[in-house]
Amino acid sequence: MDIPNLHVSAHPLLREKLTRLRDRSTPPADFRALVRQIAMLLLYEATADLELRRDVVQTPLAPATGWRLAQKVGLIPVLRAGIGMVDAALELIPEAEVWHIGLFRDERTLRPIEYYNKLPASATAQLCLVLDPMLATGGSATATVDILERWGAKRIKYVGIIAAPEGAKAMAKAHPDVHMHVGALDERLNERGYIVPGLGDAGDRQFGTG
Ligand code: PRP
Ligand code: URA
Repeated sequence: MDIPNLHVSAHPLLREKLTRLRDRSTPPADFRALVRQIAMLLLYEATADLELRRDVVQTPLAPATGWRLAQKVGLIPVLRAGIGMVDAALELIPEAEVWHIGLFRDERTLRPIEYYNKLPASATAQLCLVLDPMLATGGSATATVDILERWGAKRIKYVGIIAAPEGAKAMAKAHPDVHMHVGALDERLNERGYIVPGLGDAGDRQFGTG
């Protein structure tokens, strides 16, 4: 299936971890660890085009020309489930700022409802990474990108664990400039808007509230 700007990782370590994540017998503690590990692998790929500037450091032997990040990165975890991806991102990019957005899906209409927004007054990052494990109808992810664009964000990427074709297509249509980095593109949504085969409810499985 060819969806513009959708990057599905083919990394063997990620595929193996995703299989354990899907498994209904995986308990919340293991589930959280896997979300973190998978997020790190996805973020490694999603940040491959970060811009650098040259810098020189002194090793114990001689000066060495190296690199520093030239761009400021903002991390936007979508509450709740996106929280599980933040530590991995901060481990890779410790200087990143974290701006939380709270959305939940109305289970009747499947439309996102915004309940929290901790964006600073003005857009200060050159790259915004939206973190949310599940791209189902795409309502939550596209609403988050809408919020970021209204706020003034210039460059936005979405990083998630599993996408449904419906959600990835919705994002590609609403925001053709947003690249999506995911671990898997699944078959479909069911009648309740859940990704099949998916992994169930990512928030409930992380936080033991199922
Ligand atoms: C889940 C998930 C996404 C959303 C995806 O959150 O983390 O935010 O559903 O569905 P969509 O693409 O159809 O919008 P949920 O609304 O269950 O909230 P939670 O993270 O608080 O459990
Ligand atoms: N949210 C989830 O957590 N899982 C789905 O399959 C769909 C939306």
